[in-house]
Amino acid sequence: MSTEDRIVVRGGKRLEGSVVVGGSKNAAVAIICASAMIKGKLTLENLPKITDILILLETLEQLGASVEWTAEKTVQIDASDITSYTADNPALGKLRGSYYFVGALLGRMKQAKVVFPGGCNFAPRPIDQHIYAWETLGATVDTTGGYISAKAKKIIGNNIYFDNYSVGATINSILTATLAEGMTTIENANREPHVVDVANFLNMMGADIKGAGTNTIRIKGVKELLGGRSYSIVPDMIEAGTLMIAAAATRGNITLNNVIPEHMESLSTKLTEMGVTITQMDDSITVKGSSKRLGAANIKTMPYPGFPTDLHPQFATLLSVADGESKITEGVFPTRFQYAEQLQKLGANIQLSGESAIIKGVTKLIGAPVQPTDLRAAAAMVIAGLIADGQTTVYNLEYLDRGYENLINKLKSLNALIERES
Ligand code: EPU
Repeated sequence: MSTEDRIVVRGGKRLEGSVVVGGSKNAAVAIICASAMIKGKLTLENLPKITDILILLETLEQLGASVEWTAEKTVQIDASDITSYTADNPALGKLRGSYYFVGALLGRMKQAKVVFPGGCNFAPRPIDQHIYAWETLGATVDTTGGYISAKAKKIIGNNIYFDNYSVGATINSILTATLAEGMTTIENANREPHVVDVANFLNMMGADIKGAGTNTIRIKGVKELLGGRSYSIVPDMIEAGTLMIAAAATRGNITLNNVIPEHMESLSTKLTEMGVTITQMDDSITVKGSSKRLGAANIKTMPYPGFPTDLHPQFATLLSVADGESKITEGVFPTRFQYAEQLQKLGANIQLSGESAIIKGVTKLIGAPVQPTDLRAAAAMVIAGLIADGQTTVYNLEYLDRGYENLINKLKSLNALIERES
């Protein structure tokens, strides 16, 4: 992908129509890595075709698995013959979820060496809780030389007690403990829907994981996992949320299909409070913006079921044109405010104060060139472009390409004036 690529948005159109939400990026990255633990052919459906996924599939092949796209969103994987425990694809350094190969390979082969993860750089992202979990399960871990290396004579179930509700550390512990000897209990586990999705996937392949979706997860180690089944990735709540916010911001009226309304509860509640009409069906949500200016709102991001940090920048864009003063407090990544400088270029009034942003709503944003530096900030800029007067040009598209499947085409199908240009 050329680094010169850009998105040009002309603001002022209401989003209208219906669109199908894709599979969850953060579930899919973990499930692809988890596939390295499974003997026999398996099928993954509803996979989002985004850069992070393509890099992980390429790495699976390099480890010795066979990978074949059999339909637009369907991949067949056979990792029966994996012989290598080294994932040294340099591209792994660009994404965060690559550390799930450590959890998976350590479980299956009792050894793993994986390129040190990267990912969006909006905050310090330590991995001490991952290391603590692997060591508690009997491994020694080394993080020098650009790799995470872990090995163990035996992986033995144990009690893991996390200091915080980490998505990554919870999933990595599940992966390694699934093929351990004996019982593992994870306390203070993260409850995010993608954690539940990983557990459901592994259980379908023969694991014994109970309690995913609560703060205590119990895993009885099994000897092996066997494929022979198909698994469909859960809908992406962050893609859904991004589109819901875009609809509210443009005073549009859209229906999202393939969503789990329960996952959207924190966002739906805030949008309703601001004046948006939300209608939920079994697996769809209709978002109808108000003809009046939306009211201000305060949010605090928190682990699920709290308001998602991955919707913070997009929601800030919406609040930047709301009627009154709003406050966003970041409760997961205290420094996740890099989007603010970009939004200010369009005329937003945002003051940062510690772990909060105070946003005084302006009556309009004015289009400008913007250079977001992470995935969700990039989505926030696209939404800003949809409501700003004139033209907004969004650069640094490698972030959007990493995490949103077909966002531009989806917005176009909803009436937006948006193009990708080289
Ligand atoms: N933390 C530690 N030590 C650790 C791990 C985490 O102190 O060992 C802290 C973090 O610094 C942070 C908090 O715990 O303050 C939560 O971090 P978490 O581990 O939950 O985040 P992550 O696993 O690195 C995943 C998603 C992120 C999403 C966060 C929070 C993936 C690949 N990434 O990151 O997604 O923001 O959970 O929900 O699943 C995105 O999609 O844009 C994205 C950044």
